[in-house]
Amino acid sequence: MINDGFRLLPEQGSTHAAPVDLLYFFLLGLAACVTVVIAALIVYFSIKYRRGNTHVDRTPGDGHALALEITWMVIPLVVSMLIFGWGAALYFSGYRSPAGAMEVRVVAKQWMWKFQHPNGRREINTLHAPLGQPVKLTMISEDVIHSLFVPAFRIKRDVLPGSYAACWFEATRTGGFHLFCAEYCGTNHSRMIGSVVVLEPADYEAWLGGGQANESPAAAGKRLFEELRCAACHLPETGPVRGPPLQGVFGREVTLKGGQTVTADENYLRESILRPGAKVVKGYEPIMPSFDGQVDEEQLIQLIAYIKSQAVP
Ligand code: CUA
Repeated sequence: MINDGFRLLPEQGSTHAAPVDLLYFFLLGLAACVTVVIAALIVYFSIKYRRGNTHVDRTPGDGHALALEITWMVIPLVVSMLIFGWGAALYFSGYRSPAGAMEVRVVAKQWMWKFQHPNGRREINTLHAPLGQPVKLTMISEDVIHSLFVPAFRIKRDVLPGSYAACWFEATRTGGFHLFCAEYCGTNHSRMIGSVVVLEPADYEAWLGGGQANESPAAAGKRLFEELRCAACHLPETGPVRGPPLQGVFGREVTLKGGQTVTADENYLRESILRPGAKVVKGYEPIMPSFDGQVDEEQLIQLIAYIKSQAVP
């Protein structure tokens, strides 16, 4: 928790924290064991083979000890593969959000964190979150590389311009937790900090309902979709079909002109709005104009949220 004195490790505030700490202590213990063994051997050999000790056999061996050589290759291999597998499993569990996680959109810029909740409520540098529910953060930067770091949750993820990054957490205790930018991003990098405030689910619901009237990202995206006249080409019922229909496209594989397939995720949709010619869907002409410069990052997020909400019934 914020301001609770000195501690060697941040407290464990999410389901991800204890497994990360376990790996950390394993690595620490392993390093300590190796250090102790090497130090002990140095001391032992330097005494045993000291100059003038006539009680030891100093005849050189034949230079080969197959069993020993195999042992010192196999043991490190097994140990390093164990660390690799363990670390990879933790990485995947930390950055692949579980299905059904509540989605919070994050836009980073010099020098602040902007958060938007599913019902549209916005906040800056403070993130309210419910206890015991998975929360997915879909993040992008408006300028340079930032990095979202919540030590108590053991999550840290670079936030890049031009591409969405995601991570998730499930808080296990209520309270306030530090939030940092962990990538040097200019003059006020050190002040790009904030807090995550974990509330009981009922309190979080009450908090969500407070504030001014909110428009959800999907609703704002629908409005934008109409304002930018996307429907003229992308909704079959409103005109000739000049662009691929967008209903139910999110998360699906789409086949491109060249025959390759891509998954229509956030990054694909974003690219297709800004650079429509980059990955043209099979059966369509590259006639869509670019919306680069016409929509900002928040509007892109809204458009994508709208497309995402258009699941096939
Ligand atoms: Cu943003 Cu450092």
